[in-house]
Amino acid sequence: MLLEVKNLDAGYGYLQILRCVSLSIDKGEYVCIVGPNGAGKSTTMKTIAGLISPMGGSIVFNGEDITGLTASQITKKGISFVSEEMNLFVNMSVQENLYMGAYIIKDKKIRNERLDFVFGLFPQLAVRKGQLAGTMSGGERKMLAIGRGMMSDPKLLLVDEPSFGLAPQLTANVFESLDVLKDKGVTIMLVEQNVTKTLAVTDRGYILENGKIGLQGASCDLADDPHVRKVFLGV
Ligand SMILES: Nc1ncnc2c1ncn2[C@@H]1O[C@H](COP(=O)(O)OP(=O)(O)OP(=O)(O)O)[C@@H](O)[C@H]1O
Ligand SMILES: [Mg+2]
Repeated sequence: MLLEVKNLDAGYGYLQILRCVSLSIDKGEYVCIVGPNGAGKSTTMKTIAGLISPMGGSIVFNGEDITGLTASQITKKGISFVSEEMNLFVNMSVQENLYMGAYIIKDKKIRNERLDFVFGLFPQLAVRKGQLAGTMSGGERKMLAIGRGMMSDPKLLLVDEPSFGLAPQLTANVFESLDVLKDKGVTIMLVEQNVTKTLAVTDRGYILENGKIGLQGASCDLADDPHVRKVFLGV
């Protein structure tokens, strides 16, 4: 397994949100976490990315215990986190934002190779490389945030709600971008509100409710599960 999360407890201050969350992801897999608002999906990703330190449990990545490491140490180990907020630098160009994603790469030549790779993935970003990030459309900005996440050449990409706030056509574009990455062999963990679409494209999924993993399994089986259909799809 590339990532193995065991019995993870985490939260904010004394407030515990995640309770005994266990999940794993294999190399090349496309896995999702779905669940209602406030279930702890972002908290799970933030904890894996090292933005929140766990209260208990362990996180093993690529055979190494990374529990309690800082966010920057975890980025260096090969985990890239594309957050809901995206945190783009609006007054910097597309290209400058992409370079920010490669800050852990000291070799300029390799950084430029990564830039070419990301422009190859998302040609639209190459066309707009000189444009200020703040003037990009919502969909383009999501693409830029995902592209920036790819600049550090991650072994695992965590993507939190990339379709949030987007019109259906742009949502489709974001899912296409993720498909491109999947085809390149990138390992992806996706959190999404769009449950139907997410279960249709991912290999495997976890249902998170109230900070706990309820169901898990092949995404196609989850899509057919009566509980999932009732709670998330309203059928
Ligand atoms: N910084 C914080 N301080 C205190 N509580 C927080 C903080 N961030 C999140 N929470 C709480 O933790 C719980 C889980 O939040 P989280 O953001 O992980 O949910 P989520 O599953 O990502 O929800 P959504 O689908 O709305 O994005 C929520 O009850 C939320 O209010
Ligand atoms: Mg969230």
